[in-house]
Amino acid sequence: MHNSKTQLSFRDEILIGIPKELPAPKSRIPELNHAPKRKEILSREEKKLAIRNALRYFPVAWHAELSKEFAAELKKYGRIYMYRFKPGYKMQARPISEYPAKTIEGAAIMLMIQNNLDSDVAQHPEELITYGGNGAVFQNWAQYLLTMKYLATMTAEQTLHMYSGHPMGLFPSSSDAPRVVITNGMMIPNYSSQDDWEKFNALGVTQYGQMTAGSYMYIGPQGIVHGTAITVMNAFRKVLSKTESPKGKIFLTAGLGGMSGAQPKAGNIAGCITVCAEVNEAAATKRFTQGWVDELHKTFDTLIARAKEAINKNEILSLAYVGNIVDVWERFYEEELFIHLGSDQTSLHNPWAGGYYPVGLTFEEANIMMAENPELFKEKVRESLRRQVNAINKHAAKGTYFFDYGNAFLLEASRAGADVMSENNIDFKYPSYVQDILGPMCFDYGFGPFRWVCTSGNPEDLKKTDDIALSVMEQIRNSAPEEIQQQMQDNIKWIREADSNKLVVGSQARILYADAEGRIKIAEAFNAAVNSGKISAPVVLGRDHHDVSGTDSPFRETSNIYDGSQFTADMAIHNVIGDSFRGASWVSVHNGGGVGWGEVINGGFGMVLDGSEEAVERIKNMLFYDVNNGISRRSWARNKEALFAIKREMKRSPNLKVTLPNLVADELLDGLFE
Ligand SMILES: NC(=O)c1ccc[n+]([C@@H]2O[C@H](COP(=O)([O-])OP(=O)(O)OC[C@H]3O[C@@H](n4cnc5c(N)ncnc54)[C@H](O)[C@@H]3O)[C@@H](O)[C@H]2O)c1
Repeated sequence: MHNSKTQLSFRDEILIGIPKELPAPKSRIPELNHAPKRKEILSREEKKLAIRNALRYFPVAWHAELSKEFAAELKKYGRIYMYRFKPGYKMQARPISEYPAKTIEGAAIMLMIQNNLDSDVAQHPEELITYGGNGAVFQNWAQYLLTMKYLATMTAEQTLHMYSGHPMGLFPSSSDAPRVVITNGMMIPNYSSQDDWEKFNALGVTQYGQMTAGSYMYIGPQGIVHGTAITVMNAFRKVLSKTESPKGKIFLTAGLGGMSGAQPKAGNIAGCITVCAEVNEAAATKRFTQGWVDELHKTFDTLIARAKEAINKNEILSLAYVGNIVDVWERFYEEELFIHLGSDQTSLHNPWAGGYYPVGLTFEEANIMMAENPELFKEKVRESLRRQVNAINKHAAKGTYFFDYGNAFLLEASRAGADVMSENNIDFKYPSYVQDILGPMCFDYGFGPFRWVCTSGNPEDLKKTDDIALSVMEQIRNSAPEEIQQQMQDNIKWIREADSNKLVVGSQARILYADAEGRIKIAEAFNAAVNSGKISAPVVLGRDHHDVSGTDSPFRETSNIYDGSQFTADMAIHNVIGDSFRGASWVSVHNGGGVGWGEVINGGFGMVLDGSEEAVERIKNMLFYDVNNGISRRSWARNKEALFAIKREMKRSPNLKVTLPNLVADELLDGLFE
């Protein structure tokens, strides 16, 4: 082993990739939030295979030393992260000019990757997990080093192919092709159970990319603040009369992690009292110190007293409670505190490996049990879910509107035998937020979480993009039909207030729900501003996978599809292929997003706006398809709002010819079968 004495610059380190000399071993930084130990799943022979797989990244001369270290990591953490190879420089989105690269896209993608691994942004930064407990950018640090080097040296005639964090390499392509093609967790369908993820991830051959983790498009909790604010606002519209305000009314939920951490802020924007339970004190404290929640409570006495006071004074307030959500549901019932809205954002897409902490165990006890006695842990989770549902049912009987927030809560609760099924035993008692709110109000009209990142890293550029987006949206609103006026209004309000809400954590990014027309016009205006120099560096466009077209997920994004096709994944696959030849700078498709491995196929894109004329063509072609693919599928499923939207788009765009459904009268079907 050697210690390199010369101090390399950031650029040099990127260009070296895997260092020439074996770096000194590194221990983990204790102050950072670390992934829980994964359960031991590999046989003796499989463990040897995992080590053999890991060592293929390194010269043979290092194998003897590294084999022991990797075996120790596998034993201690259940995975091989290769901590020794974690770079010494700070992981953060730097201004684009600081990246060594032959293409603007290569530099922009490096910036996006570093943002996903920034310790202010990522949930478990040293395990390369951005959010959701297991949403990985890479499986290990060797993959990171190699990928950054490939991106730095890639030309506009090459494409980098990423296999679940592993860079397969640069392949010749053309300047029109995406610069990076990413797949995450794509399995042969029969090998997509939770334990398959544990096993094949431990072997080092696949990873859970979540949505924006493995596709380099995460922008911190802001991304989800907006979606959550829209959801909570519209949920209150459903339960309150037109004259009532959400002020002084309770929204009870759980989770202050990667995305769930956005709930209190969204609640403040929607104007209610948010009560949010979080079992992990470190996660709760992080959100509190970042200003994402107003108050932190460690005892029930102070929580209850403060909640009652806020109700009496009609306040807008967010309260974090360090403890288990099940206790809060039960205690609020005893205290007769009325809950207007209830939901849950624990990570139930990952129920057995730290996504959901069962009531009755401390956080530490649960972490030990899930690794040492996984079967008992599973039983505790199921028991806890049944108890949680019982308490929710009691509140619902008094009028609480409970909705599933796309974390597989109802799905896992039903699998645990909780009382969540409706009388027909097919549907759940409670709606998913997509069935009731986001589906019919947003996705079916083409509204979804469009986003952008200013690669200069300059907040002034972000302000300029906010202003541009605001003026484009206001213009569109003037001629928008009645059906989408509410959406236009909510989003205009959002973008007007976005800067003052101080939502940026990490890269200079913004999210805005917009439809195809809005996304295209905003993107064109950004591109013109980059061209004229008004914005000082390229802008990266993208979106969450959780959108109109990107995701097939029967219990979430496509839960308001009722023709049976919610269990197919053609839309997401068409989307990623369609985007790739229409101008995306990078594309990705994943198995597993918010609701779990095997439960969803989702994809996304990134597009770099460099101010060029070619960029205008790419914007028009790709963004158009990226939204209208999903609207057409939703309209074929007979969704009223999508039928409206696609007919309107066909009038505007003569080259668009979509197959429309003929609607069948109910009476015709009634007598057909016994
Ligand atoms: N539909 C959407 O738009 C949407 C948006 C955000 C998140 N989600 C889903 O919500 C879930 C959470 O996402 P995340 O990124 O915040 O994950 P995360 O793992 O970072 O956070 C979940 C948090 O819940 C806490 N928790 C677990 N069990 C608990 C319990 N019983 N009581 C109190 N706290 C508990 C955990 O400690 C953790 O901090 C995921 O399943 C995600 O897919 C859906």
